[in-house]
Amino acid sequence: MEVFKVHAKLIQPLTFLSTSHHFAVLFCSAYASSMEAFKQPTIRVIAIIAEGVPEGDTKKLIAYARINNKVIIGPATVGGIQAGAFKIGDTAGTLENIIHCKLYRPGSVGFVSKSGGMSNELYNVLARVTDGLYEGIAIGGDVYPGSTLSDHVLRLNNIPQIKLIVVLGELGGRDEYSLVEALKQGKVSKPVIAWVSGTCAKLFKSEVQFGHAGAKSGGDLESAQAKNKALEEAGAIVPTSFEGLEPAIKIAFQKLVEDGVILPTQEIVPPSVPEDLSSAIKSGKVRAPTHIVSTICDDRGEEPTYAGVAMSTIIEKDFGVGDVISLLWFKRSLPRYCTKFIEMCILLCADHGPCVSGAHNTIVTSRAGKDLVSCLVSGLLTIGPRFGGAIDDAARYFKDANDRKLSPYEFVESMKGKGIRVPGIGHRIKSRDNRDKRVELLQQYARSHFPSVKYMEYAVIVETYTLSKASNLVLNVDGCIGSLFLDLLASCAMFSQQEIDEIIEIGYLNGLFVLARSIGLIGHTFDQRRLKQPLYRHPWEDVLYSKYV
Ligand code: ACO
Repeated sequence: MEVFKVHAKLIQPLTFLSTSHHFAVLFCSAYASSMEAFKQPTIRVIAIIAEGVPEGDTKKLIAYARINNKVIIGPATVGGIQAGAFKIGDTAGTLENIIHCKLYRPGSVGFVSKSGGMSNELYNVLARVTDGLYEGIAIGGDVYPGSTLSDHVLRLNNIPQIKLIVVLGELGGRDEYSLVEALKQGKVSKPVIAWVSGTCAKLFKSEVQFGHAGAKSGGDLESAQAKNKALEEAGAIVPTSFEGLEPAIKIAFQKLVEDGVILPTQEIVPPSVPEDLSSAIKSGKVRAPTHIVSTICDDRGEEPTYAGVAMSTIIEKDFGVGDVISLLWFKRSLPRYCTKFIEMCILLCADHGPCVSGAHNTIVTSRAGKDLVSCLVSGLLTIGPRFGGAIDDAARYFKDANDRKLSPYEFVESMKGKGIRVPGIGHRIKSRDNRDKRVELLQQYARSHFPSVKYMEYAVIVETYTLSKASNLVLNVDGCIGSLFLDLLASCAMFSQQEIDEIIEIGYLNGLFVLARSIGLIGHTFDQRRLKQPLYRHPWEDVLYSKYV
């Protein structure tokens, strides 16, 4: 037999069910999915947790269930529990509450309620004054419950382990009267303690709709007072108020114990519930080894921070992308002239036409129909020692040569001796007479804003020397940024020597070109798509087919 639950999690099967499936759906599809489930011969019981199921749908489901010997619990139910065995829906709440209410082992009391919230309250009461719950069901608060209070009371009456039945009704509807009839007809052999809540409704001048769809007093017969009276007259134990329910249960239970009907369940040590890791960590009780260390940002608080600076501050203080780079790469707020320099590098390196290696690759990839990230990455992959990725090496070599006070001749010739091209020197199209505007703009800015430009001046005299060898051996934009960043780091008084060495060693500075050129590469990707350019094929005539090279 299987139970099918609409819109809630299922834990284990009820006694009258052996296996279970669960399936979460919304109220609007509760009818269709419940019918689909009912069509399965192995599914006999469905718990409909969803609230707001149209009454017409519920009526059709009830009719189908009656004809086909199926059972519906709900709609608008928190489910049910068989202590120590099974729970469906959110009934009984957390594992801690289940332990607290002794629901980890069966007692002698059966319980049926319209209200799910009150079920939890009553489980607590039963744990205090009886040997505990055997089985509890919340039938749900809709006007037309799929199974009624009396359906379940009669079922509980037939379970031998249950010796006492507690019923919690509610004003509105006539469901309780079917229980009254069952009691009058002597169909319930076990003591029933009942309370119908909502007696306060009489205090209101006009009709009041309580939380549940079914909880509104219609005629007098539907009032809590009338139903309590009828239940009492039919033989149920009915206290005079809700507060009287707990003592009434206690007295009835003790009498059953004294009469030898109940042999109270022996208490067992409940299974220990491991503490929830996240709350234990939060309360500082435990610590777990971390797998990742991060020092540049924190997203755990009200608002994310970059190097301790809240996002709202970044917006309020009108920070630019240079400031954000300064926070996330260098973990400090650099002076504005520095962050402006970073922004200039980004602006000036964003693109350099369609013919350079990166853009070419991106264009070809875009025309091959690839996605944005592939196009971007194929362009980025060309960035390296020859194209755009010489900033770090330029900074390394210029710093070393300058700090060792090598003359340009000694520096360049020693590099030549090692077979290494001077990083930051040389260009495919720029030359002595065709200067790189980007280099000029960055140099002008640094000369007027940086406290010192000694590394750049060193690069310039190296350039003078290399230009004496060939006119295209100019200080290129990588060499310019590399040498000027050395000046920025050394002269802004915000980095220790060790930190500067680390930045150069790790190689932060190529990141400036990578970041900047991504802007252009993304632009080229979109451009090709907009132009609906076909697959690129390099022309034969542009290839030298030779056997002799
Ligand atoms: N240092 C010393 N000599 C050099 C350098 C250099 N940086 N660059 C070229 N030369 C020499 C070559 O050894 C060659 O001499 P040779 O004929 O005696 O062998 C001559 O100059 C011409 O070399 P080419 O390879 O024709 O130069 P090309 O124009 O192809 O190279 C390039 C341009 C790749 C930029 C080259 O200068 C280089 O490798 N520079 C160092 C890396 C660099 O700074 N890259 C960044 C460029 S800027 C950018 O991409 C944004």
